[in-house]
Amino acid sequence: MANPLYAIPGAPLSAAAAAAPVAAPAPAEPAAPVTVGEVLAQSQVEAVLDELDRELVGLKPVKARIRDIAALLVIARLRERLGLAASKPSLHMCFSGNPGTGKTTVALRMAQILHRLGYVRKGHVVSVTRDDLVGQYIGHTAPKTKEVLKKAMGGVLFIDEAYYLYRPENERDYGQEAIEILLQVMENQRDDLVVILAGYKDRMDTFFQSNPGMSSRIAHHIDFPDYAQGELLQIADRMLAESHYRFGPGAREAFDEYLQRRIAQPHFANARSVRNALDRMRLRQASRLFADRDRPLDADDLSTIAVSDIRASRVFAIATNPENQT
Ligand SMILES: Nc1ncnc2c1ncn2[C@@H]1O[C@H](COP(=O)(O)OP(=O)(O)OP(=O)(O)O)[C@@H](O)[C@H]1O
Ligand SMILES: [Mg+2]
Repeated sequence: MANPLYAIPGAPLSAAAAAAPVAAPAPAEPAAPVTVGEVLAQSQVEAVLDELDRELVGLKPVKARIRDIAALLVIARLRERLGLAASKPSLHMCFSGNPGTGKTTVALRMAQILHRLGYVRKGHVVSVTRDDLVGQYIGHTAPKTKEVLKKAMGGVLFIDEAYYLYRPENERDYGQEAIEILLQVMENQRDDLVVILAGYKDRMDTFFQSNPGMSSRIAHHIDFPDYAQGELLQIADRMLAESHYRFGPGAREAFDEYLQRRIAQPHFANARSVRNALDRMRLRQASRLFADRDRPLDADDLSTIAVSDIRASRVFAIATNPENQT
């Protein structure tokens, strides 16, 4: 395989290359990288790592692990050039953590890093769950799984709640068939497909105990911690800013109190719960403004989330009356 470091699909042409006359000789290939800095510069991986640091709140241990993996891959590239590489590094991963801790978001960044370093051809992510892989009837599972694998080739196959593939209580469950096909492809086509399994930590651990074949093919396990309340508040700030909203006077404090109550309630899902809460608050803001027919609305009115938009949440009612809690 030609070293893909020199052919980064989608990389913008330099101004000089774009303006070159048709008959001009092809620009010289960049010199083969010999330093870490050169690999990083040519692959533009540093930009993805910096973006990951900047755009995602918290996740310190996750960010550190992603940097470690990037370092391993960069060094493997340099070793390969000097004929030191024995075999391609194994890249299948497991992202474990509670819902809404950023697993899908980080998987997208990981795919970019793998792509820029030339470990996958296309760098796209195909995200699936059991139902996308496993059929209902005999003979349906293999074609379903193979179809998904075909779509994911050259990129990352992200399997959410991967443990649902394995149902020991039903010995004729078709999930086992999907697992076996996956195992084969993870071994034989590992230079063209990276599989990331995701889900709750304890269930992943049990899944690996019953599926040692799968466990042995996963090179990197990354744990996604729950966010602290302060981090969730910062995530809310970013989400609001991205959609051109902001907290009005006292509203950020009210949202902090909202978080404190929401975290203690059932089905709390970290950053996903923040996103959902903000969606509902925008809805209430709209209803509030909608009710006022004659007032001219300026940009400030239209982008401000008020204390009342937050305090109207059921979360406040439930917390003051624990009898109602479901
Ligand atoms: N650290 C973070 N900083 C900013 N936004 C975040 C962060 N983590 C997650 N988000 C946002 O929260 C939402 C949920 O994140 P994501 O889908 O990556 O989590 P997940 O772990 O895959 O959750 P699930 O298990 O529910 O699929 C997304 O909208 C994402 O952009
Ligand atoms: Mg997800």
